[in-house]
Amino acid sequence: MTRILAASPDAIAQAAEHLRAGELVAFPTETVYGLGGDATHAESVARVYAAKGRPSFNPLIVHVAHARWVLGMAQPDGRFDKLARTFWPGPLTMVLRRRADTPVAELVSGGLDTIAVRAPDHPVAQALLTAVRRPLAAPSANPSGRVSPTTAAHVHESLGDKVALVLDGGACRVGLESTVLDLTGDVPEILRPGAITAEELSAVIGRVTLATPDPAHVKSPGQLASHYAPSLPVRLGAHEARSGEALLGFGAADAATLNLSARGDLIEAAANLFAMLRALDDPNRFRAIAVMAVPETGIGLAINDRLRRAAAPRG
Ligand code: TXA
Ligand code: MG
Repeated sequence: MTRILAASPDAIAQAAEHLRAGELVAFPTETVYGLGGDATHAESVARVYAAKGRPSFNPLIVHVAHARWVLGMAQPDGRFDKLARTFWPGPLTMVLRRRADTPVAELVSGGLDTIAVRAPDHPVAQALLTAVRRPLAAPSANPSGRVSPTTAAHVHESLGDKVALVLDGGACRVGLESTVLDLTGDVPEILRPGAITAEELSAVIGRVTLATPDPAHVKSPGQLASHYAPSLPVRLGAHEARSGEALLGFGAADAATLNLSARGDLIEAAANLFAMLRALDDPNRFRAIAVMAVPETGIGLAINDRLRRAAAPRG
């Protein structure tokens, strides 16, 4: 049986022990729960892929306590420095060119010559990184292709006994995965939209582009069509529930089974999205989930990105 422990200093010390022994620990971040393994230990990284059932060409994000940790992994440039100063710790992942001599396991990069790094803005994640004193490879703590977990109970439901310990730090504040920004080219490219928007990034480093998903050249599994998917079919742009459907509302909607944000607040909607998709994903009660339209502005872009993938034809 997996243990779920409230993230006390003692529990964090235990989690650090497990990680240093090459085992896996699920821990909270401000975005979603991560499934962590020692990024410098190839076997731990392999265990992460196995626990997720993730195709091994899909690389993992390396979590660090501080931008200084990145110096041993990649050659950060001026754009990285500016972005890290502005948005770290926080929900921004940056893809950089790997240093040949980095101790980070090759498997983390899934065969690419790049490495994705992020400093999470969560006291438990920060305390854990500081206690382990090693970077942690941590994908979202869900089976590959499914909805990301925003509570410790979600992790427990979906990963069962595949982790040594789940650190419970309550519900995640942001609720959507980090923005993934590729800094390896001349013009930075958003590979996965998230809480940090294109406008916010542009204000710091100038022009950024949004990657258009090309199934033949997927740089990021967040770009795969079907992803973040509940088991029930999802219908978008709904005005009301059809027979047998659950209705996930946004804004005023008396008929909604659940509402992402009755007051139409996009931040609140992002924080609720994955937990509500999970709650409605019940074949005993519904045959499908209908979702009302969410405005395509700010973090609404990231919400709609996840919703489109949840609704995409299954592979
Ligand atoms: O908010 C988050 O980012 C969460 C928390 C736990 O930090 N993590 C997360 O990890 O969402 P994951 O593995 O579920 O998604 C990582 C994304 C994927 O879309 C992956 O393809 C991309 O980052 N990625 C990782 N390394 C990459 C690389 N070297 N080049 C391009 N994309 C990369
Ligand atoms: Mg994920």
